[in-house]
Amino acid sequence: MKNDRLLRALHRLPVDCTPIWIMRQAGRYLPEYRETRERAGDFLTLCQTPELACEVTLQPLRRFELDAAILFSDILTIPDAMGLQLSINEGEGPRFARPLSSSRDIDRLGVPDPEDDLGYVTQAVRVIRRELDGSVPLIGFAGSPWTLATYMVEGQGSRDFVKIKSLMFDQSEAMHRLLNTLVDSVSLYLIAQAHAGAQVLMVFDTWGGALSYHDFCAYSLSPMTRIVQQVRADREASTIPLILFTKGGGQWLANIADSGCDALGCDWTTSLGQARQEVGDRVALQGNLDPAVLYAKPAQIEKAVTRVLDDFGSGDGHVFNLGHGITPGVDPENVRILVEAVHRQSKRN
Ligand code: CP3
Repeated sequence: MKNDRLLRALHRLPVDCTPIWIMRQAGRYLPEYRETRERAGDFLTLCQTPELACEVTLQPLRRFELDAAILFSDILTIPDAMGLQLSINEGEGPRFARPLSSSRDIDRLGVPDPEDDLGYVTQAVRVIRRELDGSVPLIGFAGSPWTLATYMVEGQGSRDFVKIKSLMFDQSEAMHRLLNTLVDSVSLYLIAQAHAGAQVLMVFDTWGGALSYHDFCAYSLSPMTRIVQQVRADREASTIPLILFTKGGGQWLANIADSGCDALGCDWTTSLGQARQEVGDRVALQGNLDPAVLYAKPAQIEKAVTRVLDDFGSGDGHVFNLGHGITPGVDPENVRILVEAVHRQSKRN
């Protein structure tokens, strides 16, 4: 591996400077992404065509000195493979044609075979690894069971989570059956990505922060912990660093670290300095610049980078990232300024 900063930071080993990658680094803020998506016809075709998924994975790396590639795909590939029929339309967000509407629907769900039903993903991982040729590590990922369940039951994004929370409160057995199926599906999917060549694995728990502490532990953290255990039980995948990211989970970091993962993603509402005090040297930390800083002037981007680096402080185990995904309106030039600022300001003497 020519650039192993990310792997070293995740193992909390010394680095020459702090590694950085950006959530949603391949996406609509890049004109070449929009061009390739146009050529593919739509977002799902882009995900399902390994050569095109590889092309858009590499696009941000051609522009910026990022320290990792992340597989171009989506967390909703698993429910799509379960038969819920995903569509993602411009300006509308994701939507399922056949959302789950009864406990019968839940009982009928099967665990997708990653090499068969999701073979386009593992194939994309193989093609990307070949094209990266050892330049930077490749991150594979999946959604957390709770976050996938919210989309599967709501049928689309939600503000208040009325349907999924009604299921959780009124039919908790059905809710647990759904989460169990998702734990097995996500574990097999992550293990298959590792076998295909993913060198880091990340679980996106985008909606964990919508839960009470008790419900977070029962319905989001416990399923994620079982995924960590299942991935660790696979001989080949067991040594791969695992990152858990609960958006809005800053107050539960010590609990999340108990899962046995290697690193925690932090959104921008968390102080990395306080987070370190809470988790000690058990895990590395990833984050956590406010994504909106990328709309500010260069001097302000530089200052915001200084604040994040200073907040983490000295020592090993920091992966720089945004606190959530980059948004479509960002000027790519500001991403260049960010990446250069992180590397320059964090350079160890
Ligand atoms: O980070 C990367 O560059 C890898 C690619 C990636 C995508 N989605 C591509 C994508 C990753 C890691 C995801 C994860 C994902 N998808 C999450 C978890 C992370 C998070 O942001 O909290 C969630 C909740 C989803 C579900 C999803 N997919 C949403 C909400 C949307 C719509 C976003 C929007 O602004 O319309 C998608 C579609 C999607 N996934 C796009 C991309 C680049 C935009 C699709 C397009 O080109 O129009």
